[in-house]
Amino acid sequence: MKTDNQAPIGVFDSGVGGLTVAREIMRNLPGERIVYFGDTARVPYGSKSRQTIIRYSRQIVRFLLTQGVKAIVVACNTASALALEDIEHEIDIPIIGVMKPGARAAAAATKNRRIGVIGTESTIKSGMYPRFIQAIDPEIAVLGKACPLFVPLVEEGWLKDPVTDEVARRYLGELTRENIDVLILGCTHYPLLRSTVKRVVGDKVELVNPAYETAQELKRLLEKKGISNPGMAPEEFPYRFYVSDAAEKFKQFANSILPYDVRVTQQINIEEY
Ligand code: DGL
Repeated sequence: MKTDNQAPIGVFDSGVGGLTVAREIMRNLPGERIVYFGDTARVPYGSKSRQTIIRYSRQIVRFLLTQGVKAIVVACNTASALALEDIEHEIDIPIIGVMKPGARAAAAATKNRRIGVIGTESTIKSGMYPRFIQAIDPEIAVLGKACPLFVPLVEEGWLKDPVTDEVARRYLGELTRENIDVLILGCTHYPLLRSTVKRVVGDKVELVNPAYETAQELKRLLEKKGISNPGMAPEEFPYRFYVSDAAEKFKQFANSILPYDVRVTQQINIEEY
């Protein structure tokens, strides 16, 4: 079957965090339509088991396939770490996560071969960032640190707040003493704390946001497969948003970070898929 070049890209996350990835796709691939799904009823993924994350991700992929997507971006580090390797063998369309692009960008950026990674508990425990980075260069030391309080702080909108500063100092103090020169923001929410993290780790540490690199990888992939949309997406509604709960709250958050006016967010029952 021939793929329709104008078909949308499916993008999913456990909730609002993946909007940081959708934002990069909007900026860097302006011709592409997007169907975004945020699993707001079942967030957070970062503290759940691998089996659960695989089950959730399979349901979301099935939903996105009903929307006629031509490719899927797993815009969640936790799902990329725990479910992507299983799911990529189960579907016929291209699917990418945020981790490999993030690992590649970090490996290219480090000069002293010492990289820090921050993410959810499950992402850090999975060891996938070290695996991908050391597949590129086994001499690179990768130091991970789970920062579970960052996600609720972002969801609460405390992006610039003394409490967030204090939490960041506690989490990142250890890492900064490890002489890293690159830090991967290995969770979709963390790019929204970029300035706080930067202040704590200092100017000598380069921050890598996997979202940007993921958009670039998506662009290369669509071109290679001959399925990119070379024109501009039509003005009206090139992006559609679905969630599993709290559609109104999601819409407000989306409008605070996207370069696009989100007018409608639809709630669906993801357990049906
Ligand atoms: N989106 C998740 C990630 O990037 C963070 C939020 C969660 O724990 O679900 O890992």
